[in-house]
Amino acid sequence: MCGITGYIGYRDAYPIIINGLQRLEYRGYDSAGIVLYDGKDIVLSKTKGKVSDLLERTASEISTKGNLGIGHTRWATHGVPNDVNSHPHTSASGELVIVHNGIIENYDTIKKELTNRGYSFKSDTDTEVLVNLIEEVKKQYKVKLGKAVQIALNQVIGAYAIAVFDKSKPDEIVVARLGSPIAIGIGKDKKEFFVASDASPFIEYTKDAIYLEDEEMAIIKVGKDVEIRKIHDDSLVDADVQELQMNLEQIEKSGYDHFMLKEIYEQPRAITDTYRGRLLRNEGLIKMAGVEDNMKKFLNADRIIIVACGTSWHAGLVAEYIFEEFARIPVEVEYASEFRYRNPIITEKDVLIAISQSGETADTLAAVKLAKEKGAFVFGVCNVVGSSIARETHAGAYTHAGPEIGVASTKAFTTQITVLSLMALRLSRAKGTMSSSDYRLHLQELELIPEKVERALKIDEHVKEIAKEYLLSTNCLYLGRGYNFPVALEGALKLKEISYIHAEGYPAAEMKHGPIALIDDRMPVIVIATSMGHYEKVVSNIQEIKSRKGKIIAVVTEGDVQVKEIADHVIEIPETEEAFTPLLTTIPLQLLSYHIAVMRNCNVDQPRNLAKSVTVE
Ligand code: F6R
Repeated sequence: MCGITGYIGYRDAYPIIINGLQRLEYRGYDSAGIVLYDGKDIVLSKTKGKVSDLLERTASEISTKGNLGIGHTRWATHGVPNDVNSHPHTSASGELVIVHNGIIENYDTIKKELTNRGYSFKSDTDTEVLVNLIEEVKKQYKVKLGKAVQIALNQVIGAYAIAVFDKSKPDEIVVARLGSPIAIGIGKDKKEFFVASDASPFIEYTKDAIYLEDEEMAIIKVGKDVEIRKIHDDSLVDADVQELQMNLEQIEKSGYDHFMLKEIYEQPRAITDTYRGRLLRNEGLIKMAGVEDNMKKFLNADRIIIVACGTSWHAGLVAEYIFEEFARIPVEVEYASEFRYRNPIITEKDVLIAISQSGETADTLAAVKLAKEKGAFVFGVCNVVGSSIARETHAGAYTHAGPEIGVASTKAFTTQITVLSLMALRLSRAKGTMSSSDYRLHLQELELIPEKVERALKIDEHVKEIAKEYLLSTNCLYLGRGYNFPVALEGALKLKEISYIHAEGYPAAEMKHGPIALIDDRMPVIVIATSMGHYEKVVSNIQEIKSRKGKIIAVVTEGDVQVKEIADHVIEIPETEEAFTPLLTTIPLQLLSYHIAVMRNCNVDQPRNLAKSVTVE
């Protein structure tokens, strides 16, 4: 949550920071701010609202000159979103400025101590407390900014990524991280440096980046090597400069109205990238280094525990069906937030799979650390390369979906299912739990999925027509069975998060145990009724809804006859192996929520109260 960015070098910092904030807006968008050093003094502008509001304000309010600056886009934790609570925050003397992503948990105690020393505070934020603590340390110990930051951070409890500079010594930016990401872009000949929560703000300027590890801080000075130290013991750390794989096109809308729509349409490509080099159909092989190198751990595992949140948790539920069916390994799927706090029984014979698009979700990361402490083998399925979860796990497999910027997860979900399917297939081979002919059939079918997703996307106009009829609904029910029960949950989550219509996902057979009471002629019920997997039983459920006058939107397999006769609307998807149907049935549900949200004038890419990467509990 919250995006931070900064620049020091020879160019105008303003456009770099503003552009960077726009790219980081997916991380939080309830207020935004920027501070520049104009050669003599600092100029600061901040506002409740989006980066576009900040742009309007800065255009009239401040000079935009200066080669040093930091900026912030906020997802509020301490203090309501308003102008005063927006970042950057200045210290009492006005000398130090800071932007912060995270939460300082003991801010109240520190605030009281600082208040006793005569400090007063303008905002309600933990961040203003931190910048004043740094100032107090700097005065008391008579140390430079870097040292003051280090001493202060050793006194705080919580999570942070920060960028700070001192107007009386405007030749450096000090950054630090614990629990929230920070990347440093290194310009040519070290003539300029960039700082950001991820590398997207500086992708057009440099491909060389350092990702700070937890408990590291860095002093960034033009013309010098970045000096990285451990916050707790001051030891120097060798900088690990990585070459960025991301390109500019990946983080732009490329003609689509929204990132979400672009990302829905990217799925055929994304799924292909996920299995590229891993699914070798001609050889009848699946190659995944992370699985291969740790095969014994998987084969000796008593069970697999999957931890994740939100959409990634839904992918975990699909994986439960797939792993148990293909590889006959017992699987438990847990909300990371519950798992980490309930003293779970974990042994050295457990394999824990953490699924996370961002690789930064605080609860999932904490669950990973807990499972490691208890001796389990921990495997990560992440999209963001070099993210905290990817680094913290013993091994893993990236989804290679490319940057997902729309806050509602789409291509992350289908690529997670693809990775997990590949893993389950590979393990089924090693365990001999699937016949050779079935194995080959599944390889062949998985390879055809991108083309089938492409075909499924062709129903977009039809889905849009259906969306028109239901945009004023206040409630929606999603039903599915087996592999498609998690898809029902995911469909409901997509609708509620971007259109603010209340929606529930249920296993179709559970309807009779309660939700059926909700059904009347105003209740749209989206039913996944593909030709395999309990088809007849789902048809009976559809009859039950129909006889109570519910409106039925059914997702069926091409060529379906039975459901077509009963449902109010049918959406056809190509036929595939039952286990892979979620990769297709999810497409019309993504499109349906997208179109309903657009028609309701909702901000599809930045739904209210949400943020892409949930780095706080
Ligand atoms: C929903 C959505 C969220 C995320 C969840 C986990 O569309 O995006 O529910 O799936 O916050 O995020 P990651 O996968 O980054 O751990």
